[in-house]
Amino acid sequence: MTTPVNVTVTGAAGQIGYALLFRIASGQLLGPDVPVRLRLLEIPQAVKAAEGTAMELDDCAFPLLAGIDILDTPRAGFDGANIALLVGARPRSAGMERGDLLEANGGIFGPQGKAINDHAASDIRVLVVGNPANTNALIAQQHAPDVPVDRFNAMTRLDHNRALSQLAQKTGTPVSQIENLTIWGNHSATQYPDVFHATVAGRPASELVDEAWLAEDFIPTVAKRGAAIIDARGASSAASAANAAVDHVRDWVGGTGSSWTSAAIPSDGSYGVPEGLISSFPVRSANGGWEIVQGLEVNDFSRARIDASVEELAGERDAVRELGLI
Ligand code: NAD
Ligand code: LMR
Repeated sequence: MTTPVNVTVTGAAGQIGYALLFRIASGQLLGPDVPVRLRLLEIPQAVKAAEGTAMELDDCAFPLLAGIDILDTPRAGFDGANIALLVGARPRSAGMERGDLLEANGGIFGPQGKAINDHAASDIRVLVVGNPANTNALIAQQHAPDVPVDRFNAMTRLDHNRALSQLAQKTGTPVSQIENLTIWGNHSATQYPDVFHATVAGRPASELVDEAWLAEDFIPTVAKRGAAIIDARGASSAASAANAAVDHVRDWVGGTGSSWTSAAIPSDGSYGVPEGLISSFPVRSANGGWEIVQGLEVNDFSRARIDASVEELAGERDAVRELGLI
């Protein structure tokens, strides 16, 4: 049998964990021929709940599931990890200031980054889902100086999928007919879903929708979808977030083909995004790595919105720097 791939999932006993682990174990992350060993990293108080999830994973008798370990220290959790999905994070509670939130998450993602640096496998790939995802990814990456910087991503694939779905509904076209949408910037309400290079059944999307709809309907709907789900469900998106994490890693490892997708990856300075910020870009993947799609024309409508989201990311980076978290 092929050597199993070690997949670490943090926050494994949480909502997203519950939607994610079964998809990984069934082969949807890495394909039907790749056995996986799951490493569930939780805080000690949630280990019992993680054990319950592991019992259910056992009860599925997934042929590709080579084993499950439940761990409560980052060192053990990331030992030998090939893929790490960092889902567990400190949510914002009532009255919490932004600095407090960044600091609380720095206390999680700094040590996790160090443990990844010291104990993960040399081919480690890290996807940060826990919010504030881009800046948590930056914190983890900055604590892992021996890991190539491009192995740290943050998830904007859920935003990308939301944008696909909204455009499909507006134009009465199946999502499979839409290509080359982009999410730029931060996974936050400032993100910019860009349709100016997208095609809908081969036609430019910009011929099918007008700027008023983009500005007043599409962009706010996509950017505030997370809050709308929290309002409706009383809890943040879970199954759709897990689905997006599967999409992201599957494409990162397996490649995208000619159409592009969106992922928050360390900027190389493309499109005026300061180098090092973990910002969402149009990306393709080949040979196990992302490449930013180059040469796209950015109009004034897009430029202002990309700049606003990138400015927010730079502000978060400066704040964590001032707090001594990076
Ligand atoms: P949840 O509260 O149901 O679960 C979080 C889990 O993380 C809990 O089981 C908790 O015990 C665990 N945890 C906390 N600190 C940990 C640590 N230091 N190490 C290991 N585990 C730890 O939350 P959820 O609904 O699963 O969401 C998780 C995160 O994902 C939240 O930050 C949420 O905002 C974020 N999220 C991001 C996206 C995205 O698109 N990027 C979408 C949805 C949710
Ligand atoms: C989402 O986009 O659904 C989440 O990031 C929302 C949240 O704050 O958990």
